[in-house]
Amino acid sequence: MIVNEFIPKPYTQLLDRGAVAYSAPSNIALVKYWGKKVHQIPANSSISFTLNNCKTATALRFEKKTSKGFSFEVFLDGKLQDDFKPKIEQFFSRIEVYVPFLSSYHFVIETSNTFPHSSGIASSASGMSALALCLMQIEQQLDPAISKEFFNTKASFLARLGSGSACRSIEGNLIVWGSHANIEGSSDLVGIKYPYEVHHKFKNYRDTILLVDKGEKQVSSTVGHNLMHDHPFAEQRFAQAHSNMEALIPVLKSGDLKAFISIVEQEALTLHAMMMSSNPYFILMKPNTLEIINKLWAFRAKTGLHVCFTLDAGANVHVLFPDNEADEVQEFIATELAEHCQNGHYIEDKLGLGAEPIKI
Ligand code: DP6
Repeated sequence: MIVNEFIPKPYTQLLDRGAVAYSAPSNIALVKYWGKKVHQIPANSSISFTLNNCKTATALRFEKKTSKGFSFEVFLDGKLQDDFKPKIEQFFSRIEVYVPFLSSYHFVIETSNTFPHSSGIASSASGMSALALCLMQIEQQLDPAISKEFFNTKASFLARLGSGSACRSIEGNLIVWGSHANIEGSSDLVGIKYPYEVHHKFKNYRDTILLVDKGEKQVSSTVGHNLMHDHPFAEQRFAQAHSNMEALIPVLKSGDLKAFISIVEQEALTLHAMMMSSNPYFILMKPNTLEIINKLWAFRAKTGLHVCFTLDAGANVHVLFPDNEADEVQEFIATELAEHCQNGHYIEDKLGLGAEPIKI
């Protein structure tokens, strides 16, 4: 599958060397992407909040080379990180047709996250989008006529080929990926800004990430997505995601937080239900994940506040709540939920505006 609009015109002249840098945020899905076809095409559409504080900053230095093939070194927090190489090598080979200069340079990739590497927070979304944006900066130097819109769209297209959810980490603050008949402009190839009205209750929406388990991921997302191929409930799940996307449209418009909560929590638990019912099966929640969920439900019933949770493919809990309820919810998190986090650690985040270039 080749998408011609992202293949650049032959370069008139290559730069000998240079350096670019970008910072890109993580994102948290409300309707989950879980299951994909070849070429990183999602089985269903998804929608996410772009985060503000959880970010990856990546600098890319490049120098012309004459040898064939890809050549790069990758550093995390200043330390050589050879275990990142296979994923980047795969990324480069998937995107080379769209970024033909890749094999003309030796690259030094220096990356760091604002969240601890061992936090169990997936860095692939922010990491791949930061790298895709750096490559687009080089492309822009080779072709200064590129528009901002094309820059972001192609960055999202490239990032998706590195990691699906990364295509939702270019812009803010509500991003849709995957074609949906009711969402104008939605595409399987790129993330787009949610195109309809969003109620002011969602402004500065908060996401506090409770770090229940900072260990390595038990199941890589690639393995997890593949398990949806022969999953007995796959078709029902994709249909459910599709209708949840549709149901969110009036909810985002009206600010009906009760309806919002029920869609978001159902999505999180269905994601885990899919893992628990695949072959092989997994339980990625930990006892503390359930402790937190039960306490959160009891707190919500008692106070009537609009706090809810969502989960990624792991044990950490994302606690979502509106900005105007932040004082009470943050106090509840500090006094009641922090004790269920590893070493009491959690990260306060909120809706963000997307990636930004870094001066280098
Ligand atoms: C559970 O984007 O990490 O976070 O495309 O294989 O890299 P790959 O998968 P990835 O999957 C993310 C899955 C999820 C849900 C979501 O973010 O929508």
